[in-house]
Amino acid sequence: MALERTLILVKPDGVQRRLIGRIVSRIEDKGLQIVAMKMLQITPEMSRQHYAEHVSKPFYPELEGFITSGPVVALIIEGPEAVSVMRTLMGATNGRASAPGTIRGDYGASRQMNLIHGSDGVDSAKKEIAVYFKDSEIFATPLCITPWSWAPEEA
Ligand code: RTP
Ligand code: MG
Repeated sequence: MALERTLILVKPDGVQRRLIGRIVSRIEDKGLQIVAMKMLQITPEMSRQHYAEHVSKPFYPELEGFITSGPVVALIIEGPEAVSVMRTLMGATNGRASAPGTIRGDYGASRQMNLIHGSDGVDSAKKEIAVYFKDSEIFATPLCITPWSWAPEEA
């Protein structure tokens, strides 16, 4: 096991629907740590960097239009196996298929307007974090609750 970081976005639909607080609460309730957080508007250039693997796909223009359509909230989340823990918490890509109890499964019924992004691997997390955050915006301070959140050998 390893302490990982993952890049999370509350997408424009999550901001418009006033779901920022509920989505961030799910992450905190799970016991993961927020080490960076800000609101911003994604530019087309940032979208192409973030979604580099999808740029040549037929659905990319729609995806770029959506992700740049309004402000998002970007976070870096840290914890043991944070990448896969967040993917599980988010649920499947298409909100119509994601399980109840997951963020996408509880709050949406769309493939495009699926509320939240989470990196799909440790390498993509590193690349995505660099798109959204400078080192000076990341606060890796241990919290007083950390010793009660996971055993040292889990991190
Ligand atoms: P995301 O990157 O946004 O967190 O979502 P994901 O990993 O669950 O899904 P991914 O395969 O990376 O797709 C990125 C976003 O593109 C849209 N999409 N549209 N029309 C289509 O076939 C299609 N496939 C994917 C979705 O909005 C997805 O979140
Ligand atoms: Mg993805």
